[in-house]
Parts: sequence; structure tokens; C-alpha cells
Amino acid sequence: MFFEELRELEEGKLLREIKSRTSPQGPKILINGREYINFSSNDYLGFANHPYIIEAAKRAMQSFGFGSGASRLLAGGTSLHRELENKIADFKGTESALVFNSGYSANTGIIPAIAGEGDVIFSDGLNHASIIDGCRLSRARTFIYRHRDIDDLKQLLKSASAKRKIVITDTVFSMDGDIAPLKDIYEICERNDAVLYIDDAHAAGVLGSGKGALKHFNIKPEPWIIQMGTFSKALGSSGAFVAGSRDVVAWISNTARSFIFSTALPSCVIAASIAALGLIENDSILVKRLWANRDKLAKSINDLDYEIMGSETPIIPIKTGDVENTLRISQYLYDNGIFAPAIRPPTVKTPRIRITITAAHTDEDIERLIELLRKEKRKRGLIHRNVGRTKR
Ligand SMILES: Cc1ncc(COP(=O)(O)O)c(C=O)c1O
Repeated sequence: MFFEELRELEEGKLLREIKSRTSPQGPKILINGREYINFSSNDYLGFANHPYIIEAAKRAMQSFGFGSGASRLLAGGTSLHRELENKIADFKGTESALVFNSGYSANTGIIPAIAGEGDVIFSDGLNHASIIDGCRLSRARTFIYRHRDIDDLKQLLKSASAKRKIVITDTVFSMDGDIAPLKDIYEICERNDAVLYIDDAHAAGVLGSGKGALKHFNIKPEPWIIQMGTFSKALGSSGAFVAGSRDVVAWISNTARSFIFSTALPSCVIAASIAALGLIENDSILVKRLWANRDKLAKSINDLDYEIMGSETPIIPIKTGDVENTLRISQYLYDNGIFAPAIRPPTVKTPRIRITITAAHTDEDIERLIELLRKEKRKRGLIHRNVGRTKR
């Protein structure tokens, strides 16, 4: 069964391989006993192996054990779950918040809870797969507007009539690393009486001094804005949240199937998220270091004349041509001790190497990547002697 289908994937060089680390997540990882500089994680602040966070998780395990044993509505949650929700509401400036088990389960649970038949969703063309799946599950009519195209969104909003209109956008796009024009989207939603649902997965801990996209754009968390975010990226933990008005969050906790019908996260995971939030709130140095590393790497890649596809954040895609070339460059980096994965269809339309930089990378890590990218271009005669030193 599935033999032919698998062979087709293999022939198209689209078969994916699961790699297993034998070390903690971080800027250097071990795979099959060999060390790699890791440019593939979303652990933007280096929290996935942070001693303070590990201690918090250990303490929670001692107090609450490991497994949670039931869903939240059946007392699978602990006082830590509630504490995290209160902290998130505070952090986001909303009345209320609710924890989900993952970003994927949040989007596939929340979107069908807030939209249904008779409603209309307007979704950015490059929104994350979990949003796409959430829209499908909702059964609401869904219009896809061109990526970050405000005029297209305006046109679609004008032409559709519905009980409820909901605009959904990633704030930082996970494969392109660009940022949604949130101020414009906010104004359009306000004018059209539409709900704004944002996925802040790659903005939490990164934009707005770590507080996320609304802070970055100086937008007030109005009751008609629903903020979803994850603990699984910059916060180095696992799980997700929705933050919004008391009524919206109460409605979601009563109707989102992925919340109701799923076992609560273990309290040690929750404690890790609480600790990570505390670190971000009390010290902005890591966020600053993340951005300093990002700017340095993006400039160096640009100087080599690689195309970074509109990246504005620590997600830096490098356009690498067809699938074969993308795989070849990724393998070249891998053979030389750098893990930077090839991202191919169907995940994206345009193949690319997706680089993610973190606060934990050193100057030497960045310089090693640049050295290999320069060699790769030189090997193929695509680089002149001066490129990589002075341009742009
Ligand atoms: C924009 C976006 N939303 C949601 C998710 C899903 O989050 P999680 O990995 O916690 O399920 C991701 C992660 O890949 C993402 O990039």
C-alpha cells in the first residue's frame, strides 16, 4: 500500500526524511553523533535548553507529577495552567486567555469556533497550514487574498456580505519571514466591522520587544481582535494560547473541539512557558541580541547576492532555484557541518533554504555559514571577487 505514491515522491525528490537529534535543541546540535551548527530551529531566544526554564519544569514535575491525565474540563489542568493564562492575558493586555496543546490544535480549534456557515473568512495567501485547515473545518466561505495585498483584501471585503466577517493573518510568515501590514489590516477591519484574528507564532518573543505584533505596530488589543500565539517557538516550550475579550475566550473554551476533546498539557510544560514569559518580561537583552544577529546575517547573505525573498525577521529564506539545486545546496552545507533544511513543495511553492537565526548563535557560527554560502557561489562561477565584501 502507498508504494507507488511513495515512489513518485522519491522520484520528484519530494520525499522527506525525519532527522533525530541526540543533543538538546540549540545553536549546535548532534545528529548521528556529528555536530552541526543549527540554522533550522524556531528557538529564537535559545530558551529550549535554558537552565532557569529547565529548573522550573523540574519543580513543577515534583509538585504535580508528569502526566495530566485528562482534558482541562475534566481537571486535567492545574493551578499552573490558570497562572499561565493570567500571565498571557497580562502580557497581551487582554481580559482573558486560554492555553491550547499546540499551535496547530489552536488554529484548527479556534477558527471553527468563531466562524461557521453563513460567515466569511478572508485569509492571506501565505497563511500557515494550520490556519488553512482551521478555515476548511469551519465551513465558513473562505476568500484567499493575495499575500499582504491590502487592496485585494479591501476589494474582497467590499464584495462579500455575511453575518460575520473575519480577517485572518499570520503576523510573521513562517516560510518567508516577512511581516503582515497589520496597521492597514487593523484599519480595514475597523472600517468594515470585521473581526481580526492574528497568528503571532513567530512574533511572540521576537517583535515588539518580545510582546508580539500588536505591540510592534502600537495597536491596542481591541475586543474585536483575537490573538493566537505559540509557546513552541521563541518561548522554547510547547503549546499555544488565544488571548482576547472575556466573552470570546469563554466561547472558545466551550466550543473549540481541539480544546475540549484533548488531554491537557503536562504541568512541567506549562511551568516552562511561565518561566520563559518571565525571562522575556524581565530582560530584553536576548531579544536585542536576536535582532543584532539577524541583521548581521541578513546583510551578509544580501551582500553575497542571494535573494532573501522579502525577509524582515529572523526567518531568512534563501531562494535557491529548483528542487534539485535546493537539495544540493542544503546537502553541501550539511556535509560541511551546517544544518539548514531545504524547504520544497508542497510546503512552499518556491523551493528555498530556510535559515533561522537565534540569539544563541555566535559570530563564528554566522561567519561559517557565510563562508560556505560564498564558496558555494564561487564553485559555480556565480560570484565575482568583490561580491561579499562591499555590495549594498
Ligand atoms: C504561523 C504558525 N502557526 C502555527 C504553527 C503551529 O504551531 P505548533 O508547532 O505549536 O503546532 C506554526 C508552526 O509551525 C506556525 O509557523
